[in-house]
Amino acid sequence: MTWTASPSGIPSLLEMHSTWLKMCRSIAELNEVTQIYRSAAWRRMDRVVRYAESTIRTANSPASRRGAKGRGERRATAASGRPFACTITVAMKTYRIALLPGDGIGKEVIPQAVRVLETVAQDFQLTFEHFEWGCEYYLRAGRMMPDDGLDQLRPFDAILLGAIGHPTVPDHISLRDLLLRIRFGYDLYVNLRPIEVLPGLDPPLRNKTPQDVNMLFVRENSEGEYCGMGGRFKRGTPDEFAIQHAVFTRKGVERILRYAFEQARQRPRKRLASATKSNALNYSMVMWDELLKEVGRDYPDVAVSNYHVDALAARMVTHPETLDVVVASNLFADILTDLGGALQGSLGLAASANLNPTARLGPPMFEPVHGSAPDIEGRGVANPIAALWTAALMTEHLGEPSAAERIMSALRAVTGEGRIRTADLGGNNTTREFADAVIARLA
Ligand code: NAD
Ligand code: IPM
Ligand code: MN
Repeated sequence: MTWTASPSGIPSLLEMHSTWLKMCRSIAELNEVTQIYRSAAWRRMDRVVRYAESTIRTANSPASRRGAKGRGERRATAASGRPFACTITVAMKTYRIALLPGDGIGKEVIPQAVRVLETVAQDFQLTFEHFEWGCEYYLRAGRMMPDDGLDQLRPFDAILLGAIGHPTVPDHISLRDLLLRIRFGYDLYVNLRPIEVLPGLDPPLRNKTPQDVNMLFVRENSEGEYCGMGGRFKRGTPDEFAIQHAVFTRKGVERILRYAFEQARQRPRKRLASATKSNALNYSMVMWDELLKEVGRDYPDVAVSNYHVDALAARMVTHPETLDVVVASNLFADILTDLGGALQGSLGLAASANLNPTARLGPPMFEPVHGSAPDIEGRGVANPIAALWTAALMTEHLGEPSAAERIMSALRAVTGEGRIRTADLGGNNTTREFADAVIARLA
C-alpha cells in the first residue's frame, strides 16, 4: 500500500482510512489511529506514521518488520504473514520555496541561506524556484513583477526574499510594487522581528550584557501609515501639497494586539510593551490605546506597558532589559527594528517573518530586516547572518523546528567562536566564508 502525496503532500483522511482499515485489527484500533491523525497537525505526519507503525507492531506480534529510510521516502513493512499486512510508503515532506533574492546584497546573502537550508534539509526536502524580480527586471519589463506575480507565488509553501531597492529605480516604486504588494496582497499582517544578541557579539551598549537585549517585535504589517492612500496636488506650484493617509481599522489593530499578547503569554517574562503616540496622533493612536486595554482584558497574565514611541526608542537603549514583546504600528516598528538591529550589533543581523496566522491568502514571506545596501553591494562582504536567521525562522514556521534550531546553534557556535566575522562586525571575512563556517558546523 502506497500513499501517494496529495497536492499538499499529505494523504487525505479518506486515503488514510483505507490504509488503516487494512492494517488495524479492530474498529477500536481504527478509531484510535484516526483520532491521532485528526488531532495531529498535518505537519506532524511523522508522528502519525510512527504511531501507525507501533500500532501495527503490537497488533501483529510477533511482527517481522524491516525499515528503510532513504532521502525520498520512509518505508515500513509490517506484519508479514497476516492477511492485512501491507507496506506504507510515505513521501518525505517537501516544501516548495520561492526565492526572490531581489537587489543588491539580497543576491549575495540569499544563495548562502540556500546552501545552509540544503544542509539542514535531511528529514524533509526543500525545492527552490528562482524569481528574478526586482529593479533589474523593472528596467527590462517596466514593472517590478509580472501582473500575475501573486498568483505565481501563491502555491509555494514560503517565500524567501533578500532585499528590494536600487538607486536605478525610485524606492517608492520598487518597494510598493513588489515587497509591499506581497505583504498586503496576502494580508501578511504580522511582521515578527526577534532582536537578540548572538554569543560573542557584545551589544554596543555600555554596561549591558547580551541577556539584556532580548525583544520580540510584533509589527503591524497590513495597514496603518503604509496604506499608500493620499495624493500630490498642485505639483510644481507654490501651493503644492501632499496628503499621506494612515488607516487604522479595529480589525487590523485588534488582531495584531491579540497576536502580540499571545506571543507575550508564551514567553517567560510575559511582558508586552505597546508603542503609542496618542499625545500627538489624537485619533489613530487613541483608538490603538483603547483597543490595547480592551484586548488586554483577555490576558490578565500579561503585564502591559504603554510607551510613547519616542520614549520607547530611548528605553530600548537605556533599559533594554525591561522590554520583552513589543507591539507597534507599521511605521513605528519599522523604525524601532532598525534600532533593534543596531542593538544586536549590526543591521546585518536582524531577521523577520511576514505571516498571516489566521488565513492563507498566499505563502508567508521571510526576509532580513536590512535593505539592499547599495553601498556595499557586489563586494561579497555583506553579513549573511540576518538571511540565515531568516532561513531558520522559515524552517520553524514550515513546521521543522529542529532544523531551525540546528541553524541557530550553528550560527551561535560560529559567532561565539569569534574567528569568522564580516566587516560590519569588525572582521574581514566574506559573506561566503561566514556561511562556509556555519555549514561546517552543521555537517
Ligand atoms: P540598508 O539596510 O540597505 O543599509 C543601511 C546600512 O546598513 C548600510 O550602510 C549598509 O551597508 C548596512 N547593511 C545593511 N545590511 C547589511 C548586511 N547584511 N551586512 C553589512 N552591512 C549591512 O538601508 P538603506 O540604505 O536605507 O536602503 C537601501 C535600499 O534598500 C533602499 O532602496 C531601500 O528602500 C531598500 N530597503 C529594502 C528593504 C527590503 O527589501 N526588505 C529593507 C530596507 C531597505
Ligand atoms: C523593512 C523595510 C521596508 C518597510 C521598506 C523597504 C518598504 O524598511 O522591511 O523594514 O518599511 O517595511
Ligand atoms: Mn525597515
